[in-house]
Amino acid sequence: MYLGLDLGTSGLRALLVREDGTPVGATERGYPVAHPHAGWSEQDPADWIAACRTTLSELKATYPVEFAGIAGIGISGQMHGATLLDSADNVLRPCILWNDTRCHAEAAALDAMPGVRDISGNIVFPGFTAPKLVWVKNHEPDVFEKVAKVLLPKDYLVFWLTGIHSGDMSDAAGTTWLDVAARDWSNDLLQASGMRADQMPKLHEGCDVVGHLRPDQATELGLAPTVRVVAGGGDNAVAACGIGAFDEGDGFVSLGTSGVLLSARDSFAPMPDSAVHTFCHAVPDKWYQMGVMLAATDSLNWLARILDSAPADLVNALGADLMAPGDVDFLPYLSGERTPHNDAQIRGGFLNLDIATDRAALTQAVIEGVSFGLRDSLEALRTTGARLDRLIAIGGGAQSRYWVQLLATTFNLPIDLPAKGELGAALGAARLAMIGVTGAAPAEVMTKPEIAETIQPNAELTGAFDDAYGHFRKLYPSVKALL
Ligand code: XUL
Repeated sequence: MYLGLDLGTSGLRALLVREDGTPVGATERGYPVAHPHAGWSEQDPADWIAACRTTLSELKATYPVEFAGIAGIGISGQMHGATLLDSADNVLRPCILWNDTRCHAEAAALDAMPGVRDISGNIVFPGFTAPKLVWVKNHEPDVFEKVAKVLLPKDYLVFWLTGIHSGDMSDAAGTTWLDVAARDWSNDLLQASGMRADQMPKLHEGCDVVGHLRPDQATELGLAPTVRVVAGGGDNAVAACGIGAFDEGDGFVSLGTSGVLLSARDSFAPMPDSAVHTFCHAVPDKWYQMGVMLAATDSLNWLARILDSAPADLVNALGADLMAPGDVDFLPYLSGERTPHNDAQIRGGFLNLDIATDRAALTQAVIEGVSFGLRDSLEALRTTGARLDRLIAIGGGAQSRYWVQLLATTFNLPIDLPAKGELGAALGAARLAMIGVTGAAPAEVMTKPEIAETIQPNAELTGAFDDAYGHFRKLYPSVKALL
């Protein structure tokens, strides 16, 4: 048996998987995100550990025999978060998350330094880890002085389980400290942000075994001390492992807290000017490119909070069949934006509100605005030469058929829906563990899911959505000019 953990932004999911790759059962536990100031986004690593303890004890109670048979654990994690440890491995401050944009000035300064984009292959986005550390150096020097190790969120969980400081290529690629072509820490990049190599964990490929469970941890969790833990990876790479997307042309659209359009690549072909991200994959010798929007289901969740409603209820109220684009515009920039604007300061907005605008019209505007934002990522990815003929839809928002029809029509691409629901990154994490423990080849383990249904673009509406997208593209520069 294998255990896949998915340390997300809204919660942690734990999934048990058999040797033959079939899922046994999963549990989830949520935790909050704190926004103490505009642009800030933080989490307490102790909440991740508490969620891990709870989900594992639930799995153990529900599947005692299978749980006792776990041979390996893999972890997927929300990327870029800075978990700062002192020399006694105590957490120094709340983790600064991927959608935190407080360090936009530090990011712009690093981004302008010669060589930084060339080595890292990417723009230095404010959500990335290196500019966060420069912000801590500038604003919390007492904390900065004590930083002995910087761990990404899932690496903190690996540390809690094994007592070992480890990192993996796919997640490290989002720090701006990795030479993404060479798959190794870059001393030049570390120095550029005032960091040292000894503050970084040892790097592995995502499917490499890092070590065994700490004996005390094994006893507490009811697992054998022989259980092996692999390095795991950043959530988008690992979700790609979960749906077998690692060959050139394989891709997905993910409607999670963030929105992602990902395309697997056989080689390292960065194109930072497009604001596309180019990262190592979680398996050796593979890379991937993606466009990232910061608030996808987060935009719908925001509206739902304000309307005191559940996000799914809002979307279900739109009915089953895709409507023509609505009159209200929504700019999905509640946390700023990465692809294609790299703009931490832009904020969201509604335009064209009418006295007759109701909650359905606002909901339609929000999911259309998010879908147009993702079309921006599609166009950006296409400029890199990525081949995208069809996509698999994953993430919580993909449970809405309406939203998937909207995406298929906005992209004018067929979108496949996997048969067995959405196991994404948790399944990918279990698969990495399976490879690490058995030595199997990635292609044997990371098969593609059975497709339940393919949602085709609605041919009667593609023209209207193309026009509406053309209109959406004019909004950002116009609003930007006003701010
Ligand atoms: C990717 C990114 C997000 C997070 C969300 O660069 O920042 O997709 O990984 O978990």
